[in-house]
Formats: sequence, structure tokens, C-alpha cells
Amino acid sequence: MSPRPRRGPPPLLRALLPLLLLLGAGRPAACSPRGPAPPRFNVSLEQAAPLRWLPVLRHFDPGFLRGALAAVIGAAVPGWVLEALRPALSEAARLLPQPFGAEIGGMCAFLGMEAADCVLVNLAYEFSAFCTSIIAQDINGNIYHGRNLDYAFGNLLRKLTIDVQFIKNGQIAYTGTTFVGYVGLWTGQSPQKFTISGDERDKGFWWENAVAALLKKNCPVSWLLRNTLEEAENFEAAVIKLAKTPIIADVYYIVGGVSPKEGVVITRNRGGPADIWPLDPTNGEWFRVETNYDHWKPSPPWDDRRTPAIKALNSTGQQNINLDTLFKVLSVYPVLNNLTIYTTVMSAAKPDKYTTQIRN
Ligand SMILES: *[C@@H]1O[C@H](CO)[C@@H](O)[C@H](O)[C@H]1NC(C)=O
Ligand SMILES: *[C@@H]1O[C@H](CO)[C@@H](O)[C@H](O)[C@H]1NC(C)=O
Ligand SMILES: *[C@@H]1O[C@H](CO)[C@@H](O)[C@H](O)[C@H]1NC(C)=O
Repeated sequence: MSPRPRRGPPPLLRALLPLLLLLGAGRPAACSPRGPAPPRFNVSLEQAAPLRWLPVLRHFDPGFLRGALAAVIGAAVPGWVLEALRPALSEAARLLPQPFGAEIGGMCAFLGMEAADCVLVNLAYEFSAFCTSIIAQDINGNIYHGRNLDYAFGNLLRKLTIDVQFIKNGQIAYTGTTFVGYVGLWTGQSPQKFTISGDERDKGFWWENAVAALLKKNCPVSWLLRNTLEEAENFEAAVIKLAKTPIIADVYYIVGGVSPKEGVVITRNRGGPADIWPLDPTNGEWFRVETNYDHWKPSPPWDDRRTPAIKALNSTGQQNINLDTLFKVLSVYPVLNNLTIYTTVMSAAKPDKYTTQIRN
């Protein structure tokens, strides 16, 4: 089977783009002016799960949110797949791991949407995100972590992107970046412990298998990421949890810690790790770049964001790497491209520096 280019929207999505652009004209109602940083919200983990996201939702116009979420579903899932999956999704909605199921249920009820649709929105992003993640160590042993999240319907998702501080005991338990309505995280930080980003490992359309995996209680990729931020005590515990826990789709998890050498790219199969690729600074390997392809294979020529990122890191140099220069690396074309929704740079040892910017 010959590989085929997967950059850019698939045909169905392309057909829907004009509609999405129209929808994109809607705006969140009461947000601060749209600067380059997304709005940042507190979500209290001490609030009952069905209620804890409602203060966030109240910052957005409910009609805009319903339209946006419906558009995401429509664009991400062919109608016939949706119809075929609906019964399984209704079933899955009742069995979802907590607190995710209850959080989705609470938001869904608030917006007056069907449970199956809300579950689907929360799965939709699992399958078509292109990304670049970089982990790097400077000459003093500080660890920096950055990521671009690339996705097809940017006009919509740029308006839904939020930074969230999850609060427990009056403290920030962890921070993450996500889209309104989406309870998982593809990017996040456990302060003074570790940072994680997830990059899709594309295996094509696997809807039925994914729902089957969900029914078997495998975890969506982004839920494991959030759960790890919530529970893992340190870098090593995070890596073990991210490497071993069964999930519903293949993925790359990129993890950074607070001490020298604490940086790794985990290549995941659903059932467990396919490969573990740590930083090796003593041998001059002071950074790792992961896009959406196994690091031991070449990037496909139609989508090589890896080489430009490596070039930019090489010319930056280990002595000059920090969150600002990492952001610049993530701003080099085509690492930064038309599909990039946001860039986040972070360093678990300096949790206040967690920064997301909306791109394009
Ligand atoms: C969010 O929670 C943190 C920690 O409790 C607090 O310092 C901050 O003021 C809160 N921000 C808002 C906007 O409520
Ligand atoms: C980056 O630098 C390393 C070490 O000097 C070198 O082996 C590699 O070819 C360089 N890669 C690129 C893309 O410039
Ligand atoms: C990306 O956007 C630029 C500027 O609008 C445009 O010239 C270019 O053709 C676009 N590239 C792709 C691949 O869509």
C-alpha cells in the first residue's frame, strides 16, 4: 500500500470549509479582547464534576458553542459513521471513566446537546491533529518543552482555545490548554514536576476500533494525559503511566521534567509503548523533535516539519535555548504553518512561565 499525503483537510472536510468559515464569524460573547494569548480560566476540581466547567461555558455565547461543536462533529466524522456509531456512543456515554464522563454530561446538559454528540466531540480531536513537540535541555540542565498544535478547522478552534488552571486546595494542581467543551488535554503542566504534550500518530480512520476500545475501558489519549497531570508524583511516574496505560489510539507523548536528562518521547501503541526515546545530553543530543512520524523513520517528503525544526534548533544552539528561543523555533515555517492553532512553551521548574499563543 502506498502512503498518501495526509496534510491538509480530507475531501469531506474541504467541502465543509466554507460552512466552517461562516460559522467562524461567531464570537465568544464576553471574553477579553482577542489578543494573541487565549483566555485563561480556573476550573475547580473541588466542584462536582458536572458543574465544574459551567463557569467557563458562561463566558461564551451558548449558540456559538452549539454551532461550533456541531461543526466540529460534522467535519470530523462522516455522517454515515456517526449514524453507525450513535448507539455505541450512547452506551459509551454511560460507561465513560470519571470524572470525564460526568464533566461531559454536565456541559452537555448545560448546552442542551445530545450525550452522544458531546462524547463524539470529545473523541473527534483524537484522530486528526498534526503537531510538533520539542523537548530541550540547556547547558545548565534546565528543561524546556514546546509544542505547536495544528488542526484543520482553525478558524473555529482558535476561538475555542483556552488555558485552564485546575484548582485544588486553593492551589494550581495543574495547567493545560484545550478547546471549550473538550475535557481532555493535549498540552499540560504539573508544576515543579513535569510537562506533557501529545502528538497524533496517524493510523488513518479507526472509528469503530476506537469506540470498541473505549467500551473496553481504554482511555482516550488526552484523558490519560490529564489524568497523569493529576496523579503522577514526578517525571518518572508520569513516564511509566503514559507508557503503559491502555489507550484508544496510537500517539506520541512528549514529557519534560525538572532535572537534567528528564526529557523523553514515548511512541505509543494502544496497548503499550512501541519506543522510548530519551534526551541524551552527554552525547550532544540535547533536544528531541517529534512531529507525527516515528522518529526512527524518515519524515515523508510532503510533510517534513522535523528537518526545519532540527535546523532551527541547531542554529539556536544549546547555550541559547530558553522558552523565548524555543518559541522562535516553533515559529519557523513550516513548523508553524497555516494549520497551526496555538503554540505553548513551558518548563515545569518555572510553572509561571507557561505561555500559550494563538497563531495565524
Ligand atoms: C485562580 O486560582 C488561583 C489559585 O487559587 C488564584 O490565585 C487566582 O486568583 C484565580 N484566578 C481567578 C481569575 O479566579
Ligand atoms: C544538526 O546538528 C547535528 C550535530 O551537529 C548534525 O548531526 C545534524 O545533521 C544537524 N541537522 C540539521 C538538519 O541541520
Ligand atoms: C498558507 O497561507 C499563505 C498566506 O495566506 C498562502 O500564501 C499559502 O498558500 C498557504 N499555504 C497553504 C499550504 O495553504
